[in-house]
Amino acid sequence: MAATTTSRGSWGSSFGFILAAAGSAIGLGNIWGFPYKASQSGGAAFVALYLICVLIVGIPVMFAELSIGRSTQKSPVSAFRALAPRSAWWLVGAQGVLSGFCILAFYSVIAGWTLGYLYMAITGRFTAGVSLEQSEAMFDGLRGNPAVVVLWTGGFFVLSILVVRGGVHGGIERASRVLMPVFFFLLVGLAVRATTLEGGAAGVHFLFNVDFSKVTADVVLDALSQAFFSMSLGMGAMITYGSYLARRENLPRAGLTVGLSDTAIALLSGLMIFPALFAAGATPTEGPGLVFVVLPTIFDAMPAGVAFAVAFYALLVIAALTSSISLLEVITAFFVDELRWGRERAVWLFGGVCFALAVPCALWSGFMDLLIMIFFDYALLVGGLFICLFVGWRWKPAGAIAEMRAEGRSFPGLSGWGLLIRFFCPVVIAIIIANQLWSALKPAGQ
Ligand code: TRP
Repeated sequence: MAATTTSRGSWGSSFGFILAAAGSAIGLGNIWGFPYKASQSGGAAFVALYLICVLIVGIPVMFAELSIGRSTQKSPVSAFRALAPRSAWWLVGAQGVLSGFCILAFYSVIAGWTLGYLYMAITGRFTAGVSLEQSEAMFDGLRGNPAVVVLWTGGFFVLSILVVRGGVHGGIERASRVLMPVFFFLLVGLAVRATTLEGGAAGVHFLFNVDFSKVTADVVLDALSQAFFSMSLGMGAMITYGSYLARRENLPRAGLTVGLSDTAIALLSGLMIFPALFAAGATPTEGPGLVFVVLPTIFDAMPAGVAFAVAFYALLVIAALTSSISLLEVITAFFVDELRWGRERAVWLFGGVCFALAVPCALWSGFMDLLIMIFFDYALLVGGLFICLFVGWRWKPAGAIAEMRAEGRSFPGLSGWGLLIRFFCPVVIAIIIANQLWSALKPAGQ
C-alpha cells in the first residue's frame, strides 16, 4: 500500500481510479433516480434522451473536469486559481464546494432511509406479504419519525467519514475495490431474477419502447440534469478525483469507461426495477417512493424474497456510500489543499457540519425539496456551463488536449471534443437552463 507519490495522495492504479470514480458516479441517482424519472417521463423516450445527453454533453464535460484536475493536481478552488491566476474563475470551484456540501446533506438523508430499509429487510419486515397501503404506511412511518431518520442519517455520515479519513488510496480506493464488485454482482443477480419473473417482460418493453409523444421541454431538462447528477459532474468531484490521477494514465479512456459504466448501470437498474414492478402487477407511477414503497410489496411473492430484499437494500446502501464519499472528499480536499488542514480534522469537522444541515432535511421535506431543486435542477448545470466556458475559452481546448495526450497517450476525436466543449455544450446547457427558468418564472396558467 505504498503508492502515495505526493503528500496529497494518489490512486494506486488506473483501475483503482476507475472503480472509485465509477463508485462516485454510480449511486442513488442510478438506482433510485433514473428509474423513477424514466417512469414519469415516458419510459424509453426519456432513456433515449438521457443517452444522447450522456454522449454529447456528459462525456465531454467529464473529460474537461478530469483534465483540469490532473493538470493542476489540485482540488477545484486551487485548480481554477492555478490555471487562471488573478481572476474570478476560482468562484466556479467555490460554488462546487458549496454544492457538494448541500448535495451531501440531502443525499445522506435518502441514504439514511436505505440503511433503515436494509435493517427492516434483515429483520424480516417484508416477509409477511406487504400490501401497497401497508408499504406506504411503512415509508411514511420511517420518514415521519424524525429521531429514527436522524439516527440513520448520522450513522451514514459516520460510515462516509470513516472511509474518507483513510485517504485517497487507503480509504476511498480500498473501499471501492471491495464495494464495487459486490455491488455489481448483486445488481446482475437481481436484474436476472427480475427479468425472468413471470410478466417481467412488460417491464423490459416499457424501458425500451420509445414513445416520443411524451417528450416535452421539461423532459429534456430532466434528462440533462439527471445526466449531470448521475455522472457526478458540474461541482468538481471529477476535478478532485482527476487530481489524484497519475500522468501516465490514459485520461480520456478512463473517463469514457467511467461515463459508460455509469450509463450501463442505470440501464441495468431499470432492467431490475421495471420487470419486478410489472411482474407484481404494479404500475410505474409511484414517483420518488418507487424503490421504497413499491418494491417491498413484491419481495414476498418471489422465491427467496427475503434474501432478495436484503440484497436489494444492501445494493442501495453500497451505491449511496461510494457516492457520498466523493461528495465528502470534495469538501475535505478543499480544506486540506487550501487551508493545509489535516485530513482527519477536516473530515470530522465538515462531515459534522454537513450532518447539521442534513438534520433539517430529515425533518422537513419542504427544505429537502428546496435543496434538491436548487442543487439538482440548477447548480450542477450552471457549474457545468462555467466549466465548459472555462476550458473552451480561458484555458482553451489545446491546453486540455495537451493534458489528455500527456506522456504520448492518444485518443481519437479530441479536436472534435474541443469544438463540442467550446461551442456546442455551453449552448445546449444554457438553452436548457434558460428554458427551465422561463417555465419556473412565468405566471401560472400560461
Ligand atoms: N452520482 C451520484 C449518484 O448518481 C451522486 C453524486 C456523487 C454526485 N458525487 C456527486 C452528484 C457529485 C453530483 C456531483 O447518485
